[in-house]
Amino acid sequence: MCGIVGYAGNKDTISVLLHGLEKLEYRGYDSAGIAYLENGEIKVSKCKGRLINLQEKLADRHTENIGTGIGHTRWATHGEPNDINSHPHLSKNNQFCIVHNGIIENYISLRDNLIREGYHFESNTDSEVITHLLHFNYNGEMIETILKTINQLEGSYALAIICKDHDDKVFCVRKESPLIVGSGTGENFIASDIPAILKYTREIFIMEDNEIAIIDKDNITFFNSFGSSISKNEVLVTWDEKASEKGGFEHFMLKEIHEEPESIRKTINPRIKNNHIVLEGITLEKPKKIAIVACGTAYHAGVVGKYLIEKLLRIPVEVDIASEFRYREPIIDEDTLTIIISQSGETIDTLFALRKAREKGSRILSIVNVVGSSIARESDDVLYTWAGPEIAVASTKAYSTQLSAIYLITLMMYEGKDKELLISQLKDIPDQISKVIKDMSAIQKASSLLFGSKSIFFIGRGLDYALSMEGSLKLKEISYIHSEAYAGGELKHGTIALIEEGTPVICSLTQHDLIDKMISNIREVKARGAYVMVITQESHCEQVKEVADMIVMIPEVNPVFSPVIAVVPMQLFAYFCSVEKGNDVDKPRNLAKSVTVE
Ligand code: AGP
Ligand code: GLU
Repeated sequence: MCGIVGYAGNKDTISVLLHGLEKLEYRGYDSAGIAYLENGEIKVSKCKGRLINLQEKLADRHTENIGTGIGHTRWATHGEPNDINSHPHLSKNNQFCIVHNGIIENYISLRDNLIREGYHFESNTDSEVITHLLHFNYNGEMIETILKTINQLEGSYALAIICKDHDDKVFCVRKESPLIVGSGTGENFIASDIPAILKYTREIFIMEDNEIAIIDKDNITFFNSFGSSISKNEVLVTWDEKASEKGGFEHFMLKEIHEEPESIRKTINPRIKNNHIVLEGITLEKPKKIAIVACGTAYHAGVVGKYLIEKLLRIPVEVDIASEFRYREPIIDEDTLTIIISQSGETIDTLFALRKAREKGSRILSIVNVVGSSIARESDDVLYTWAGPEIAVASTKAYSTQLSAIYLITLMMYEGKDKELLISQLKDIPDQISKVIKDMSAIQKASSLLFGSKSIFFIGRGLDYALSMEGSLKLKEISYIHSEAYAGGELKHGTIALIEEGTPVICSLTQHDLIDKMISNIREVKARGAYVMVITQESHCEQVKEVADMIVMIPEVNPVFSPVIAVVPMQLFAYFCSVEKGNDVDKPRNLAKSVTVE
């Protein structure tokens, strides 16, 4: 989710690159850098931290002889955020220089081969292999060299490349990571997103997978994956700058919900090889006991984890809110595996809980999004979610990728006969989520009917109960509607007293073996006047029709995986309620994205 810019033209290249990077800051990053050709030599300037550090470093540069350059804001996935791991990366003899967005899945084997060929690696990134590979494959012909190189890469990439021998040109190619080319007068641009170049041009080309573009100040040429020259249609951008930062979505939250399929692919695809789960550097043996500790949404992912792990692995799991775990006396020891879940990796209660578990001798495996964060650094093993930066305070893609990471851990240790089947079903999840997002009309209608409610209840059983907790939190935090989640069978022990004529109750109903029990619970609330919305699969529709006032359908999936799909309508419901109420969706009152105080 980093930002890439590239420039060929007569303007002050460094300023154009820095302006572009500034406009991409919204995407989140941990370091920044640029490279440019000056008197036929490639010069690189890069550093960890905010863009201002780079701007200060470049403040006294003379820019007269600089015509082409590339820039990058990095959001680390491999190797912690520091000066050396920042992009751009130079090749041997400073001949090539690249910036990369994405993940190279086979970088270890490529790196080992290149080391055998005498190449030296400076950084811990996956990206550095690309620049050396370009050098290794180079035969003077850039298109051939790029094609040969990308054919050796597995994973996702948007790449901007400069080469000493072609000092007026910038080359780019992409697969699964975004990239556009901008056409100006006497200047041309490359960027990972429109805001970076909107100041200079509104005429853009959208790059497709494995297409290559070459820009110089006067020309843009495109090639397909066979190296043949192709023509592409120009698109005229009509968005204003603010809208374009959000990719045309009204809010970051909606954008991030739409990113869920891609983010889940990033979490799982590099770790599934020939239908086997390979968690790089992590060896997991079934522990005697598992403790899961986290806060908020991450805690809810942990509750799903408990149901899942106990069901599939038959290992006892305790799941705790970090602030409680810290101050109770949890019974854990060296036979317990502690799984810490945190998007930011900086939540203070979670960090202290980690330290407490470590004091007790437990091994720590963390599921974290931000590379190099405190929790990641203090863990024995880290499984990064690679979800990309999450800007909206309300967590959405972080939750679904945390669940995906839990599926990976569980299925890695699972020994059942259906192991391979479950792994292939996991791989289908992103497509199923795309189907839910494609038609949001039912959920939009539900929100417009219910956003004025004083209180909304969520009920479910088993995995549906775990999921309901997250649906309810999402609604509270951005719509400010009071909400509670209850286990279907628990309502009658008190809370049902609050159900009156018209009280909305949202019921997640996806667990085949609990359908009849759940239908009885729905009848109980219906009898007290509740307005019931059910989230379920096609196969239960007939039964549900009788008791539901409204049905939201999700695709038919193995019930084990339904939380990661059924959460999407719940996130959208909260989102649309918040929009209807005119709230500040991305920055809800009283909340911060990362809670670094107790
Ligand atoms: C969820 O929408 C909230 N933003 C919040 O509950 C969050 O999940 C919690 O603060 C934990 O944060 P972390 O994952 O960064 O540790
Ligand atoms: N995987 C690369 C790295 O960690 C690129 C990250 C990005 O997209 O910013 O350096």
